[in-house]
Amino acid sequence: MRRLVAETRLSVDDLVAPLFVREGIEEPQAIQSLPGVVQHTQDTLEAEVERLVGLGVPAVMLFGIPLRKDAEGSEAWNPEGVIQVALRRLRKAFDDDVVLMADLCLDEYTDHGHCGIVDDRGRVDNDATLELYANAAVAQADAGAHLVAPSGMMDGQVLAIRDALDEADFTETAILAYSAKYASSFYGPFREAVDVTIADGGDRSGYQQDWRNGREAMEEIRFDLSEGADMVMVKPALAYLDIITRARMEIDAPLAAYHVSGEYAMLKAAARNGWIDGDRAALEVLTAIKRAGADFILTYLSGEVAALLD
Ligand code: PBG
Repeated sequence: MRRLVAETRLSVDDLVAPLFVREGIEEPQAIQSLPGVVQHTQDTLEAEVERLVGLGVPAVMLFGIPLRKDAEGSEAWNPEGVIQVALRRLRKAFDDDVVLMADLCLDEYTDHGHCGIVDDRGRVDNDATLELYANAAVAQADAGAHLVAPSGMMDGQVLAIRDALDEADFTETAILAYSAKYASSFYGPFREAVDVTIADGGDRSGYQQDWRNGREAMEEIRFDLSEGADMVMVKPALAYLDIITRARMEIDAPLAAYHVSGEYAMLKAAARNGWIDGDRAALEVLTAIKRAGADFILTYLSGEVAALLD
C-alpha cells in the first residue's frame, strides 16, 4: 500500500554522474575526501561511462584537471585540452547513448583558482571573463558536448555562451546554467578533486551567492532563463531545499539540483563509522531532493544508487 500511495519516486533516469578526468596520469588517483570517487585517466573514464550507461544512468557531467594551469585558464578552450580530448573520445564511443555535459568554468584551469580572470587589484573581471567562457563553450561543443554547464556565476555568462554557440553553428548545444550557486563550505572536497587552491586565501563570495538570500536566487534563475538557459540548477541541494521548491513553483523549465561533494563526504564519513546506514541515507536524501521539486540530480552517488534501484 505504501508503494501505491508514494508521492515521489526516485529513478535512475533522475541521475547525473559528475566525473573527473586528469591529464598526465597513468592510473586513476583516489580523492581522499571523496571515498569511492577518483580522478580518471582517459581510459578509465571511458570504462566508467560504459559502466554507468549499462546501469541506465542517462548523463554525466565532466570536469577536467589539466597539467598546465595559467592566469587565463587557456587549457579550458585548447582543442587538445584534457576535457576536449575526453569529450571527443566519449562522443565517439557512446554517441547519443549518454548525455555528455561539460562543466564550463575556469577554476580548474587557472593558476590562481578563481572562476574568471583576475585584475591587478585581485578582483575577478566579470566582462573580460565572458569572452573566455565563450571560447570554452565552443571548444566543448566542437569536441562533442551535448550540453555545456556554466558554473562560474559571472553576470551575463549564459547570453555570451548562447551567442558564441549560435555563431559557431552549435545551435543545438543546450545550456544548463548553475544559476543559484551559493558560496558554500560544502564544495571543500571538490577542491581536492580538481586540485584547486584559491590564491591569497581568497574565496568566491564576490560572485557566488550569499546563503542568507533566497529571493536573489530567483533573480539569478530568471536572468539565466531570459538569457537563453535551457535548464537551471540550484547548488548545493540539502541546505537549499527551500530554494528548489521555490524555483519549482516559479518556473517551468527543467530544474536540476547538485548534491555536492561535501554533502556526499558527510554521508560517506558517517556511514563508514557505522553511524548511519549509507544506502538508506542515500535513497532518503536523493528522494527528498526530488520531493522538493528537482527534475534531476547531479550526485557522486549515481553509480551506487543506480545499482540499488535496479
Ligand atoms: C566550479 C565548480 C565547483 C563545483 C562544481 N563546479 C566548485 C566551486 O564553485 O568552488 C563544486 C561541486 C562539488 O562540490 O561537488 N567549477
